[in-house]
Amino acid sequence: MDPTTDPAFSVALDETALTTQSILLAAAHHDIPALRDLLRNTSANVQDAETGFTPLHAAIAACEPYEEGGPKPTNGHTNDDEESEERKNELDAAARTVKFLFQNGAIWNDLDSKNETPGCVARRLGLSEMYEIVVDAGVRAELLLARLDQYQILGDQGDSEEEEEEEEDDGKEVQSAEAVVEVEDQTNGEDVSTTNPNYLASQLTFTETRILDDSANGVMMAWETTLMKRSAELLLPSSGLRVLNIGHGMGIIDGIFQSLNPSAHHVVEAHPDVLKRMKEEGWYEKPGLVVHEGRWQDVVPALVEKGEIFDAIYFDTFAEEYKALKEFFTEHVIGLLAPKEGSGEGGRFGFFNGMGADRQVCYDVYHKIVEMELFEAGFDVEWEEIAVPDLQDSGEWEGVKRSYWALDKYRLPTCTFIG
Ligand SMILES: C[S@@+](CC[C@H](N)C(=O)[O-])C[C@H]1O[C@@H](n2cnc3c(N)ncnc32)[C@H](O)[C@@H]1O
Repeated sequence: MDPTTDPAFSVALDETALTTQSILLAAAHHDIPALRDLLRNTSANVQDAETGFTPLHAAIAACEPYEEGGPKPTNGHTNDDEESEERKNELDAAARTVKFLFQNGAIWNDLDSKNETPGCVARRLGLSEMYEIVVDAGVRAELLLARLDQYQILGDQGDSEEEEEEEEDDGKEVQSAEAVVEVEDQTNGEDVSTTNPNYLASQLTFTETRILDDSANGVMMAWETTLMKRSAELLLPSSGLRVLNIGHGMGIIDGIFQSLNPSAHHVVEAHPDVLKRMKEEGWYEKPGLVVHEGRWQDVVPALVEKGEIFDAIYFDTFAEEYKALKEFFTEHVIGLLAPKEGSGEGGRFGFFNGMGADRQVCYDVYHKIVEMELFEAGFDVEWEEIAVPDLQDSGEWEGVKRSYWALDKYRLPTCTFIG
């Protein structure tokens, strides 16, 4: 018998829907005792079938202030002081509820049917304290997932490379900031750039203003020129310095580095189509410029072994996860960067800071993580904010599979090694 036609099945379904509604209602009323009771046997990650609300969404959305001129959700108070006291109590209760839900395993970045995470709702409603609670929970969750990932790698040491790639592909149980992106990506079929080796085997299309991969992902786009220019200026404040760039792309930052008269300029690039184009454009003949063909993972250890030292290093690759960037700055940069001279400054390291940039809450989570992990690796970071124009408005994303940038400010990092 088909279990879905069994009457017992629909009763069970009704019960599940009822429990979900009870949890959402308790969350919206910031009723922790009721939630404690309900969550004994049910997950904190239930979702309303229609709105997609999780208990976190419900607890936060319930704090929406009433509209000016609209009916006040009042219990008879008119006095302003009392009203603000009431609001404060409401927000405190909501904050306690949100924390309670996190303690009970609530996922920080589930999407509702309007494509909002709980953090997006908090931000839209101007609930800054609530927003920070979500960001901090996101940081903890992402750090924990990264740790678990490492344990998995340790446990999997006997696995073949192929098996590891497969795991990278279908790591769906891992709900990370990148998972939010994956959910949005599912509409366009196969994506050639889900892993770095797949991307490197794919065919690229070059135009004046962009490089696209086989799935129309934006590998590099001309709108990033302002960011590249400022990074280059901060990394090479004077002429005669030695620079290493990982990832040539459209050659935007390499062109700017060249104009700043470095004494040595090394480029690491792995994609055969980019390398072919570099040859056609004469990059191999530029004085003082050395092109290293291959993945940085293979090239960089050899550079360290040769004792190559640089005053500035820039890192901007594609189809790699945050853990690749982390591996680069924790394990490789130190061996390549010019040391600090006396009380002066040492070499500088910069990277394209685009993790989680398709929504503010993910960007803020990764900002905290990367800052923390750079510090642990011995770096001091200076951040500079740069305004980014509305790329949607200017039609930048036409013909591009996914808009990887949705924010109005870029946070540009310049790192120095302080040991
Ligand atoms: C976003 S683009 C870099 C854009 C560059 N900053 C610019 O100003 O044009 C990323 C580049 O990194 C290269 N890349 C991706 N994975 C790599 C790897 N593992 N090692 C070396 N290069 C890699 C890509 O082929 C691509 O050319």
